[in-house]
Amino acid sequence: MSNRTGFIGLLFLSIAFAFLLAQFILSALQIRQLVQPLNPGGAEQPPSRRIVLISQELDNPFWRAVEQGAREASSAYGMELDYTGPFRIHAEEQIKLLQKAVASKADAIILQGIGDPAYRQWIDRAVDQGIPVIAVDTDEPDSKRLAYVGTDNLEAGRRMGELVIRSATGKPAQIGVLVGSDAENQQQRLEGFRAAISRSPELQLAEVKSSHISRLQAARQAEDMLTRLPQLSVMVGLSALDGIGIREAAARAKRPDVRIFAFDDLEETVEGIRQCAIAASLVQQPAEMGRTAVSLLRDYFGGQRPAPQHFTVTSVLDRSTLGAGTAGAVCR
Ligand code: BGC
Repeated sequence: MSNRTGFIGLLFLSIAFAFLLAQFILSALQIRQLVQPLNPGGAEQPPSRRIVLISQELDNPFWRAVEQGAREASSAYGMELDYTGPFRIHAEEQIKLLQKAVASKADAIILQGIGDPAYRQWIDRAVDQGIPVIAVDTDEPDSKRLAYVGTDNLEAGRRMGELVIRSATGKPAQIGVLVGSDAENQQQRLEGFRAAISRSPELQLAEVKSSHISRLQAARQAEDMLTRLPQLSVMVGLSALDGIGIREAAARAKRPDVRIFAFDDLEETVEGIRQCAIAASLVQQPAEMGRTAVSLLRDYFGGQRPAPQHFTVTSVLDRSTLGAGTAGAVCR
């Protein structure tokens, strides 16, 4: 009995001791929190930087991938990332968002180049105020932007042309092209593509239309092209949602013979390749663009000026590179 009383007493004392210890730790933490703002010299961390990333379109999966890469890097470096963009592609809205980022005194800005003089002026104004700006995906070379991070778009267009040439049958073929927008990256891809296919006299570029980076518009434009130009046998989409839209249009127009070439590796593009509906895609590295842009900013804050151009790699995705699930299977 006395043993039992002793045990209970000990247990009681241990609980009381643990409670007091917890109270003590809690108060110590509270005191530290109160004292830190009064003691700037005592802060061990460098000041947290706020980066604003302005996309071409907020929920576009390509831009969400850029955001994801930028977010990973900024949290690894203890920086804050504000991701923003127009709900639907809208150059003027991009300009307003840039003005807002400058007015809010962001520490740095990452944005897509849109080739607009007013936008360029705001980039220059930001830089003059000490806010470094990095262009991703599309360059803004005539501005004071610190660097460009993204695909070499002229080269990517040329590679796309070579993909089409390689898959050509030797017979004359007419090609329909969709660009995503008027942005410089699309125009450069188109230029590279034209240059590459100009070496194959049997290939002719019949028409170029814009999808306004919308899958719905891509499907509409492609269906319209296939109806008006029934001789088209190849269709190429130069931005992320175009290949998927073209695939939809070819199915609606009952044209399974049309060879489709896409850009990027959105889930449905990969599925289209797996199912032999899309011949190949030229894949960019949007997450890498976001990561690299943030790490260049970190270096810049550490006193290093980056080189003006950082090209991210592209790769070809087709059934031979897809691997799992397609081995041995041959399309058409
Ligand atoms: C382009 C981006 C564009 C996106 C749209 C990508 O291929 O590089 O500029 O915003 O497609 O879906």
